[in-house]
Amino acid sequence: MTGDSKQQPRPDATGDRARDALPDAGVPASNPDAGAADVAIRVRGLVNQFGSQTVHDQLDLDVRRGEILGVVGGSGTGKSVLMRSILGLRPPQAGTIEVLGADALSRDLEERRHIERNTGVLFQDGALFSSLTVGENVQVPLKEHHPDLRDSLRYELALLKVKLSGLPANALDKLPAELSGGMRKRAGLARALALDPPLLFLDEPTAGLDPIGAAAFDRLIRTLQEALGLTVFLITHDLDTLYAICDRIAVLADKQVIAVAPVAEIEQVDHPWIQDYFHGPRGRAARDAKAHASGAH
Ligand SMILES: Nc1ncnc2c1ncn2[C@@H]1O[C@H](COP(=O)(O)OP(=O)(O)O)[C@@H](O)[C@H]1O
Ligand SMILES: [Mg+2]
Repeated sequence: MTGDSKQQPRPDATGDRARDALPDAGVPASNPDAGAADVAIRVRGLVNQFGSQTVHDQLDLDVRRGEILGVVGGSGTGKSVLMRSILGLRPPQAGTIEVLGADALSRDLEERRHIERNTGVLFQDGALFSSLTVGENVQVPLKEHHPDLRDSLRYELALLKVKLSGLPANALDKLPAELSGGMRKRAGLARALALDPPLLFLDEPTAGLDPIGAAAFDRLIRTLQEALGLTVFLITHDLDTLYAICDRIAVLADKQVIAVAPVAEIEQVDHPWIQDYFHGPRGRAARDAKAHASGAH
């Protein structure tokens, strides 16, 4: 992982249109009065434990429809475990999770399929099948959920998603190992978008990319989010990403989501981790890059 590439500010991604269109957030992690229609994901009282280690203790979180929510927190604070719980991949010890109105913890097959069909996921390690071409990888969810599709149509759909993700058409026949890191992320994104899901989960998508590649990937996420009306749950430690494309930031610390708000409000929250993170040298650089980009017009 190229940790030091994160030190440099990089070109800003996209504008603030979607962010400005959203109502103001307020710092509490959840608002019990928020209308159910506006909430894509609702987590209440989540408890996750591994043996004697408690990762989440009564965690609450709302993800609003149509927002890019940046999820941050120190290493090991439970960002990936939270994502896996929301996806129904890790049953928690307690709590409730609703995804697009369905119970994410239900053992009912129909309810599970509903969530699966409506979510695309880019896991931290990319998780492409190494023995399948990019095109075959993108077709995996199509085969699973739409087994009746003709081969030619499935191929066309995979090609469309590959292009949508900013890869050249000839990437379709390449193996993951034949691609650069940035291209592999795009291939993973193409597979995540295979079923046209309204909900997209990204776990550290720009980790390991150089600053230019990371900025380009951010722009792609924002463009797709706006064009397709996606709700995006974006785990990242990339400050540039937070400033460039996130509508709100959720901070994981002390086993809970301690604040959810636009980044300008989060910076002001009086918590040691938040202060260190946002007001350290890297935070300053990212903020300056953002201010420079917004002030440029
Ligand atoms: N399958 C597992 N078995 C035991 N401990 C786990 C497992 N998955 C995660 N953990 C622990 O839970 C904590 C949170 O992990 P994770 O969500 O991956 O953190 P991060 O915020 O860095 O994504 C870590 O301390 C990790 O060791
Ligand atoms: Mg993680």
